[in-house]
Amino acid sequence: MKFLAIGALLLSTVSALATEHIIKGAQIIPASDKAGLKKIGAHGHHKHHDRRTVTIRSSKSDTDDISDDFLWGIKAANHGGRLLLQKGKTYVIGKKLDLSFLDDIEVQLEGEVKFTDDIDYWQANHFYYSFQRSITFWVWGGQDIKIFGKGTLNGNGQEWYNAFAGMEILDPDNVFYRPVLFVTDNATRVSVEGITQLNSPCWTNFFVRTKDVSFDDVYINSFSTNASALPKNTDGFDSFNVDGLRVTNTRVDVGDDCFAPKPNTTNIFVQNLWCNNTHGVSMGSIGQYPGVEDIIEHAWIENVTLVNGQNGVRLKAWAGPDVGFGRINNITYKDVRVENTDSPIVLDQCYFNIDAATCAEYPSSVNFTNINFENIYGTSSGKNGKVVADLTCSPNSVCTDIHLSDIDITSPAGGPPIVTCDGIDGDVGVECQSSSA
Ligand SMILES: *[C@@H]1O[C@H](CO)[C@@H](O)[C@H](O)[C@H]1NC(C)=O
Ligand SMILES: *[C@@H]1O[C@H](CO)[C@@H](O)[C@H](O)[C@H]1NC(C)=O
Ligand SMILES: *[C@@H]1O[C@H](CO)[C@@H](O)[C@H](O)[C@H]1NC(C)=O
Ligand SMILES: *[C@@H]1O[C@H](CO)[C@@H](O)[C@H](O)[C@H]1NC(C)=O
Ligand SMILES: *[C@@H]1O[C@H](CO)[C@@H](O)[C@H](O)[C@H]1NC(C)=O
Ligand SMILES: *[C@@H]1O[C@H](CO)[C@@H](O)[C@H](O)[C@H]1NC(C)=O
Ligand SMILES: *[C@@H]1O[C@H](CO)[C@@H](O)[C@H](O)[C@H]1NC(C)=O
Repeated sequence: MKFLAIGALLLSTVSALATEHIIKGAQIIPASDKAGLKKIGAHGHHKHHDRRTVTIRSSKSDTDDISDDFLWGIKAANHGGRLLLQKGKTYVIGKKLDLSFLDDIEVQLEGEVKFTDDIDYWQANHFYYSFQRSITFWVWGGQDIKIFGKGTLNGNGQEWYNAFAGMEILDPDNVFYRPVLFVTDNATRVSVEGITQLNSPCWTNFFVRTKDVSFDDVYINSFSTNASALPKNTDGFDSFNVDGLRVTNTRVDVGDDCFAPKPNTTNIFVQNLWCNNTHGVSMGSIGQYPGVEDIIEHAWIENVTLVNGQNGVRLKAWAGPDVGFGRINNITYKDVRVENTDSPIVLDQCYFNIDAATCAEYPSSVNFTNINFENIYGTSSGKNGKVVADLTCSPNSVCTDIHLSDIDITSPAGGPPIVTCDGIDGDVGVECQSSSA
């Protein structure tokens, strides 16, 4: 069979692959070989046309590292082809991978890509980002990258959760870095569809210097089997210098932020997002680093359900001595349902953990403008009593055109729900009172 496939390939794409050496256990099937593609599960996808398709050998055990084969497969599929990771098979990645050279590639993930949990190896071998000292197993960059299928990207996080127990990512002395499961950097037009992202050691997705990234129908889940070592900082989505970020029809069940674009993210679209056990859908925090300008602008967030979380919808920017500047502008949250959520609506221009007096002395230099909350409904957890929305602007900083409408959130604490507003000029559209009242 393999000889036939290779023969057909040589006939159809001799020039493109004349120098390509097929590695052991791999196969390349030309787009014209419909029967061959069908046989391996790569033919007739409703959205993706048949392409030259590459398969590689899968792992025989959890320690059978196929990263060299994977890299070979990516190179063989680059420039118009597809790498297929087959259903029922596991592909173990035990070495860091630079995938920054991509140009028109599809990865059809039907099986499982699983990272080794060799903490010593990954702490010595990774890609590093100074923004919040993030590391990753691999970096995806280039253009026209499509990942789709019903398979799983498995971060194999349990050992990382066990080892990180008791530590804090924001502790300035922390040097125990944990990898992000999926990172794009210097990438244009990236789409991810249908897959599951499981147990990332740290953030699940981080997009850096990326233009037009979209996720559709993805399921993100992080859980621990060890009650004394829960997953930490396993955010669903984070971004840094990104223009065009789209997340639709996606479910996130992690113990941290569901969706949280970070500095310089513009043109954000979220629709039909479900978040369980999260810290909510947040813009920011931004404005953390002195002298640095951060922007989050033009976001449309619609039809989100937030269950069992700390926050529902939130905007946050730093205030205090030695912070940065910028703006959060033109943000709409529409049709958001909360259930058992501690703080359903939060606007905080006095982040992080500073008191009212300090925030008044050092107000935020991140302007908040044109912020809309429309049709936010459901129930809070009651943790904050009757308060269902908490809006805090820095005194004397720009915080204008903040609008709330159709807010219908009840608290198990009973009574009429309370909205608190501090430091906001003008009418926000609903009755609100000072938090110190
Ligand atoms: C970004 O990618 C382009 C090709 O897509 C490349 O020419 C450029 O050098 C890359 N930039 C950086 C900073 O890596
Ligand atoms: C669970 O995590 C704790 C905290 O790190 C650790 O001491 C313990 O060994 C872990 N239990 C198992 C079964 O791995
Ligand atoms: C809203 O999103 C949920 C998934 O969280 C989906 O089931 C529902 O159909 C969506 N509603 C609309 C009007 O699209
Ligand atoms: C949501 O999380 C809770 C734990 O807080 C869990 O019991 C429940 O099964 C989750 N819901 C779904 C639909 O996965
Ligand atoms: C955000 O963009 C601004 C303006 O383009 C730039 O000056 C700033 O350095 C960027 N911020 C970060 C954190 O990269
Ligand atoms: C606000 O953002 C939306 C996208 O959510 C965009 O279509 C619209 O043009 C923006 N408005 C302004 C005034 O820039
Ligand atoms: C913040 O608002 C002030 C006052 O309107 C304006 O001068 C400044 O340029 C704004 N900053 C940003 C980053 O948009």
